Amino acid sequence: MNHVGTKTIETNRLILRRFTEDDAQEIYEGFVNQEDFLYYANKEKRTLQEEIDSLKGIDKKYNNPEYYNWLITLKDNKKIIGAINLNVDNYNESVEFNYAIDDRYQCNGYMTEALEAVKNYCLNEMKVNRIFGGCEINNISSKRVMEKCAFIYEGTLGKHLKLRDGYHDMCLYSIINN
Ligand SMILES: CC(C)(COP(=O)(O)OP(=O)(O)OC[C@H]1O[C@@H](n2cnc3c(N)ncnc32)[C@H](O)[C@@H]1OP(=O)(O)O)[C@@H](O)C(=O)NCCC(=O)NCCS
Repeated sequence: MNHVGTKTIETNRLILRRFTEDDAQEIYEGFVNQEDFLYYANKEKRTLQEEIDSLKGIDKKYNNPEYYNWLITLKDNKKIIGAINLNVDNYNESVEFNYAIDDRYQCNGYMTEALEAVKNYCLNEMKVNRIFGGCEINNISSKRVMEKCAFIYEGTLGKHLKLRDGYHDMCLYSIINN
């Protein structure tokens, strides 16, 4: 695997870029406090101060070429509409992605566009062996995004996800880099 860090990615309608400390207010007002995001990420609602604190020193994290974390913004008006990040497994040369889109912008094909771009980044620039993602079994929208990006359904892991209302089955999707 070839670590290249979080570089800006441009698609037809989007710019995927690094988080900065100045983004705290807009992120706080957006997806990070929305119900679907909190439920599927199993997180608590954040305060503005927590958001500010979480972004302090983020520049330093990006100095690590193994850190991959993008904000998804609209090319037209620069608005922040979501985020996508990677967990890296160096030994197995694989990455797992996590993502969310602000619910005011969902069902416009934005996450499909972002995931397609990140998938190509992983396969072509990072040269990973395997890229995969998982979603709660009833998360139709997330399944659809992975299917539209040509990820292959590998199976369902029983009670793999602990959410606030208990354990849930998780569907696993991947692409192997041949
Ligand atoms: C999952 C998520 C990232 C999808 O983002 P998005 O930008 O809305 O995705 P897209 O618009 O690219 O695609 C969504 C697809 O799901 C479909 N969809 C959404 N709800 C649906 C439903 N109830 N039944 C059938 N299809 C549905 C849309 O029609 C679309 O498919 P299409 O293009 O074939 O019509 C977004 O819903 C989200 O952030 N949800 C909350 C957090 C979350 O679930 N994160 C993922 C955890 S694994």
